[in-house]
Amino acid sequence: MLEIKDIHTYYGTSHILFGISLNVEKGEAVCLLGRNGAGKTTTFRSIIGLTPPKTGSIKFQGQEIAGKPPYRIAQLGIGFVPDDRRIFPDLTVRQNILVARRGKEGSAWNLDSIYALFPKLKQLEAHMGNQLSGGEQQMLTVARTLMTNPQLILLDEPGEGLAPLVVKAMGEQLGEIKKTGITMLICEHNVGLSMALSDRCYVMDKGTIRFQGTIEDLRKNEEIRKKYLMV
Ligand SMILES: Nc1ncnc2c1ncn2[C@@H]1O[C@H](COP(=O)(O)OP(=O)(O)OP(=O)(O)O)[C@@H](O)[C@H]1O
Ligand SMILES: [Mg+2]
Repeated sequence: MLEIKDIHTYYGTSHILFGISLNVEKGEAVCLLGRNGAGKTTTFRSIIGLTPPKTGSIKFQGQEIAGKPPYRIAQLGIGFVPDDRRIFPDLTVRQNILVARRGKEGSAWNLDSIYALFPKLKQLEAHMGNQLSGGEQQMLTVARTLMTNPQLILLDEPGEGLAPLVVKAMGEQLGEIKKTGITMLICEHNVGLSMALSDRCYVMDKGTIRFQGTIEDLRKNEEIRKKYLMV
Protein backbone atom coordinates (compact mmCIF):
# COMPACT_ATOMS: atom_id res chain seq x y z
CA MET A 1 0.00 0.00 0.00
CA LEU A 2 2.83 2.38 0.92
CA GLU A 3 6.34 2.00 -0.42
CA ILE A 4 9.02 4.49 0.54
CA LYS A 5 12.38 4.16 -1.18
CA ASP A 6 15.53 5.99 -0.18
CA ILE A 7 14.08 9.40 0.66
CA HIS A 8 16.21 12.37 1.69
CA THR A 9 14.32 15.20 3.37
CA TYR A 10 15.54 18.64 4.45
CA TYR A 11 14.27 21.60 6.45
CA GLY A 12 15.89 24.40 4.50
CA THR A 13 19.51 23.38 4.34
CA SER A 14 19.32 20.96 7.30
CA HIS A 15 19.53 17.42 6.04
CA ILE A 16 17.17 15.36 8.26
CA LEU A 17 16.30 12.05 6.58
CA PHE A 18 19.17 10.07 5.10
CA GLY A 19 17.77 7.45 2.79
CA ILE A 20 14.69 6.14 4.62
CA SER A 21 13.05 3.09 3.02
CA LEU A 22 10.02 1.37 4.44
CA ASN A 23 6.88 -0.34 3.31
CA VAL A 24 3.44 -1.03 4.70
CA GLU A 25 1.18 -3.73 3.24
CA LYS A 26 -2.58 -3.41 3.01
CA GLY A 27 -4.26 -4.13 6.35
CA GLU A 28 -1.02 -4.06 8.30
CA ALA A 29 -0.22 -1.98 11.36
CA VAL A 30 3.41 -0.93 11.38
CA CYS A 31 5.17 1.17 13.98
CA LEU A 32 8.02 3.55 13.55
CA LEU A 33 10.02 3.85 16.74
CA GLY A 34 12.88 6.10 17.72
CA ARG A 35 13.98 8.63 20.28
CA ASN A 36 13.08 12.32 20.24
CA GLY A 37 14.51 13.92 17.13
CA ALA A 38 15.05 10.63 15.28
CA GLY A 39 13.01 11.87 12.32
CA LYS A 40 9.64 10.15 12.80
CA THR A 41 7.47 13.23 12.34
CA THR A 42 9.64 14.31 9.41
CA THR A 43 9.00 10.92 7.79
CA PHE A 44 5.24 11.50 8.21
CA ARG A 45 5.53 15.05 6.87
CA SER A 46 7.41 13.65 3.86
CA ILE A 47 4.59 11.17 3.19
CA ILE A 48 1.75 13.68 3.46
CA GLY A 49 3.54 16.31 1.39
CA LEU A 50 4.09 18.97 4.09
CA THR A 51 7.87 18.57 3.79
CA PRO A 52 8.36 16.67 0.55
CA PRO A 53 11.60 14.70 0.12
CA LYS A 54 14.28 16.17 -2.12
CA THR A 55 15.10 12.78 -3.60
CA GLY A 56 13.67 9.28 -3.43
CA SER A 57 10.28 7.79 -4.09
CA ILE A 58 7.03 7.43 -2.14
CA LYS A 59 4.40 5.23 -3.74
CA PHE A 60 0.85 4.92 -2.42
CA GLN A 61 -1.13 2.12 -4.04
CA GLY A 62 1.43 2.05 -6.82
CA GLN A 63 1.18 5.76 -7.57
CA GLU A 64 4.09 8.15 -7.01
CA ILE A 65 3.03 10.80 -4.47
CA ALA A 66 6.36 12.44 -3.56
CA GLY A 67 6.07 16.09 -4.51
CA LYS A 68 2.27 16.13 -4.84
CA PRO A 69 0.51 18.83 -2.79
CA PRO A 70 -0.82 17.76 0.64
CA TYR A 71 -4.50 18.12 -0.31
CA ARG A 72 -4.03 15.73 -3.26
CA ILE A 73 -2.28 13.17 -1.06
CA ALA A 74 -5.12 13.43 1.48
CA GLN A 75 -7.70 12.97 -1.29
CA LEU A 76 -5.94 9.82 -2.44
CA GLY A 77 -6.76 8.29 0.95
CA ILE A 78 -4.00 9.06 3.45
CA GLY A 79 -5.21 10.41 6.80
CA PHE A 80 -2.91 12.03 9.32
CA VAL A 81 -3.39 12.32 13.08
CA PRO A 82 -0.92 15.00 14.20
CA ASP A 83 0.69 14.94 17.62
CA ASP A 84 -0.64 18.39 18.52
CA ARG A 85 -4.37 17.52 18.31
CA ARG A 86 -5.66 20.18 16.04
CA ILE A 87 -9.31 20.36 17.00
CA PHE A 88 -11.51 23.45 16.81
CA PRO A 89 -11.80 24.80 20.37
CA ASP A 90 -14.93 26.86 19.64
CA LEU A 91 -16.93 24.14 17.91
CA THR A 92 -18.82 21.37 19.68
CA VAL A 93 -17.57 17.80 19.55
CA ARG A 94 -20.31 16.95 17.04
CA GLN A 95 -19.41 19.92 14.83
CA ASN A 96 -15.72 19.05 15.03
CA ILE A 97 -16.54 15.58 13.70
CA LEU A 98 -18.94 16.76 11.00
CA VAL A 99 -16.68 19.42 9.51
CA ALA A 100 -14.09 16.73 8.80
CA ARG A 101 -16.58 14.65 6.81
CA ARG A 102 -15.40 13.70 3.38
CA GLY A 103 -16.27 10.75 1.23
CA LYS A 104 -19.57 9.67 -0.11
CA GLU A 105 -22.88 9.03 1.57
CA GLY A 106 -22.75 5.49 2.95
CA SER A 107 -19.00 5.59 3.60
CA ALA A 108 -17.81 3.29 6.37
CA TRP A 109 -17.10 6.12 8.77
CA ASN A 110 -19.96 8.41 9.70
CA LEU A 111 -21.30 9.95 12.89
CA ASP A 112 -22.95 6.65 13.94
CA SER A 113 -19.91 4.43 13.47
CA ILE A 114 -17.68 7.03 15.15
CA TYR A 115 -20.00 7.18 18.16
CA ALA A 116 -20.13 3.38 18.30
CA LEU A 117 -16.33 3.30 18.50
CA PHE A 118 -16.05 6.24 20.91
CA PRO A 119 -19.20 6.26 23.08
CA LYS A 120 -17.53 8.95 25.17
CA LEU A 121 -17.66 11.36 22.24
CA LYS A 122 -21.39 10.82 21.94
CA GLN A 123 -21.84 11.66 25.61
CA LEU A 124 -19.81 14.81 25.05
CA GLU A 125 -21.24 15.74 21.67
CA ALA A 126 -22.59 19.12 22.80
CA HIS A 127 -19.41 20.09 24.66
CA MET A 128 -16.99 22.57 23.15
CA GLY A 129 -13.59 21.40 21.91
CA ASN A 130 -11.79 23.41 24.56
CA GLN A 131 -13.68 21.66 27.37
CA LEU A 132 -12.20 18.26 26.62
CA SER A 133 -9.45 16.44 28.50
CA GLY A 134 -6.28 15.44 26.66
CA GLY A 135 -7.52 11.90 26.12
CA GLU A 136 -10.89 13.09 24.83
CA GLN A 137 -9.16 15.51 22.47
CA GLN A 138 -7.05 12.66 21.16
CA MET A 139 -10.18 10.57 20.52
CA LEU A 140 -11.72 13.51 18.70
CA THR A 141 -8.60 13.97 16.57
CA VAL A 142 -8.68 10.31 15.56
CA ALA A 143 -12.43 10.56 14.90
CA ARG A 144 -11.94 13.57 12.64
CA THR A 145 -9.31 11.76 10.61
CA LEU A 146 -11.54 8.67 10.25
CA MET A 147 -14.36 10.88 8.94
CA THR A 148 -12.25 11.45 5.82
CA ASN A 149 -12.51 7.69 5.21
CA PRO A 150 -8.79 7.13 4.63
CA GLN A 151 -7.30 3.82 3.53
CA LEU A 152 -4.05 4.51 5.32
CA ILE A 153 -3.87 6.38 8.59
CA LEU A 154 -0.67 7.86 10.03
CA LEU A 155 -0.72 8.39 13.80
CA ASP A 156 1.95 10.62 15.31
CA GLU A 157 2.50 9.70 18.99
CA PRO A 158 -1.15 8.87 19.76
CA GLY A 159 -0.38 8.19 23.43
CA GLU A 160 1.77 11.26 24.02
CA GLY A 161 1.02 13.08 27.26
CA LEU A 162 -1.84 10.78 28.26
CA ALA A 163 -2.19 8.87 31.54
CA PRO A 164 -1.40 5.13 31.34
CA LEU A 165 -5.05 4.06 31.59
CA VAL A 166 -6.03 6.48 28.83
CA VAL A 167 -3.18 5.20 26.67
CA LYS A 168 -4.43 1.67 27.22
CA ALA A 169 -7.97 2.62 26.18
CA MET A 170 -6.63 4.44 23.10
CA GLY A 171 -4.63 1.32 22.18
CA GLU A 172 -7.79 -0.77 22.38
CA GLN A 173 -9.74 1.69 20.23
CA LEU A 174 -6.98 1.67 17.64
CA GLY A 175 -7.22 -2.13 17.71
CA GLU A 176 -10.93 -1.84 16.86
CA ILE A 177 -10.12 0.54 14.02
CA LYS A 178 -7.52 -1.89 12.70
CA LYS A 179 -10.18 -4.64 12.59
CA THR A 180 -12.12 -2.60 10.05
CA GLY A 181 -9.26 -3.30 7.62
CA ILE A 182 -7.66 0.12 7.67
CA THR A 183 -3.87 0.21 7.22
CA MET A 184 -1.88 1.98 9.92
CA LEU A 185 1.52 3.52 10.41
CA ILE A 186 2.08 4.65 13.99
CA CYS A 187 5.08 6.45 15.42
CA GLU A 188 6.14 6.53 19.03
CA HIS A 189 9.36 7.41 20.81
CA ASN A 190 8.96 4.44 23.04
CA VAL A 191 7.29 1.09 22.65
CA GLY A 192 3.90 2.00 24.02
CA LEU A 193 0.44 1.36 22.69
CA SER A 194 1.73 0.37 19.24
CA MET A 195 3.38 -2.76 20.61
CA ALA A 196 0.19 -4.80 21.00
CA LEU A 197 -1.24 -3.44 17.79
CA SER A 198 1.58 -3.66 15.30
CA ASP A 199 2.56 -6.49 13.00
CA ARG A 200 6.02 -5.09 12.31
CA CYS A 201 8.24 -2.25 13.37
CA TYR A 202 11.07 -0.05 12.19
CA VAL A 203 13.52 1.64 14.53
CA MET A 204 14.93 5.01 13.48
CA ASP A 205 17.90 6.99 14.69
CA LYS A 206 19.36 10.22 13.31
CA GLY A 207 17.33 10.08 10.14
CA THR A 208 18.15 6.49 9.24
CA ILE A 209 16.49 3.10 9.78
CA ARG A 210 18.55 0.99 12.19
CA PHE A 211 16.33 -2.05 12.57
CA GLN A 212 13.30 -3.67 11.04
CA GLY A 213 11.44 -6.79 12.01
CA THR A 214 8.50 -8.16 13.91
CA ILE A 215 7.65 -6.91 17.39
CA GLU A 216 8.87 -10.29 18.64
CA ASP A 217 12.24 -9.72 16.92
CA LEU A 218 12.48 -6.36 18.67
CA ARG A 219 11.53 -7.84 22.04
CA LYS A 220 14.41 -10.29 21.70
CA ASN A 221 16.90 -7.69 20.53
CA GLU A 222 18.09 -6.04 23.69
CA GLU A 223 20.99 -4.30 21.97
CA ILE A 224 18.74 -2.37 19.60
CA ARG A 225 16.28 -1.51 22.36
CA LYS A 226 19.05 -0.24 24.63
CA LYS A 227 20.81 1.68 21.91
CA TYR A 228 17.91 3.36 20.14
CA LEU A 229 14.94 3.17 22.50
CA MET A 230 14.57 3.72 26.19
CA VAL A 231 13.28 0.29 27.14
N1 LIG B 1 10.71 22.84 11.18
C1 LIG B 1 11.95 22.40 11.40
N2 LIG B 1 13.03 23.10 11.01
C2 LIG B 1 14.29 22.65 11.21
N3 LIG B 1 14.57 21.49 11.82
C3 LIG B 1 13.56 20.74 12.26
C4 LIG B 1 12.18 21.14 12.07
N4 LIG B 1 11.39 20.20 12.61
C5 LIG B 1 12.22 19.25 13.09
N5 LIG B 1 13.51 19.57 12.88
C6 LIG B 1 14.69 18.74 13.25
O1 LIG B 1 14.60 17.52 12.53
C7 LIG B 1 15.04 16.42 13.32
C8 LIG B 1 13.97 15.36 13.34
O2 LIG B 1 12.80 15.85 13.97
P1 LIG B 1 11.43 15.08 14.03
O3 LIG B 1 10.42 16.03 14.53
O4 LIG B 1 11.19 14.42 12.73
O5 LIG B 1 11.74 13.98 15.13
P2 LIG B 1 10.78 12.96 15.86
O6 LIG B 1 11.40 11.61 15.71
O7 LIG B 1 9.39 13.14 15.40
O8 LIG B 1 10.95 13.42 17.38
P3 LIG B 1 9.86 13.46 18.58
O9 LIG B 1 9.83 12.08 19.19
O10 LIG B 1 10.46 14.46 19.54
O11 LIG B 1 8.56 13.90 18.03
C9 LIG B 1 15.37 17.01 14.71
O12 LIG B 1 16.77 17.17 14.77
C10 LIG B 1 14.67 18.36 14.72
O13 LIG B 1 15.37 19.27 15.49
MG1 LIG C 1 7.68 13.76 16.35
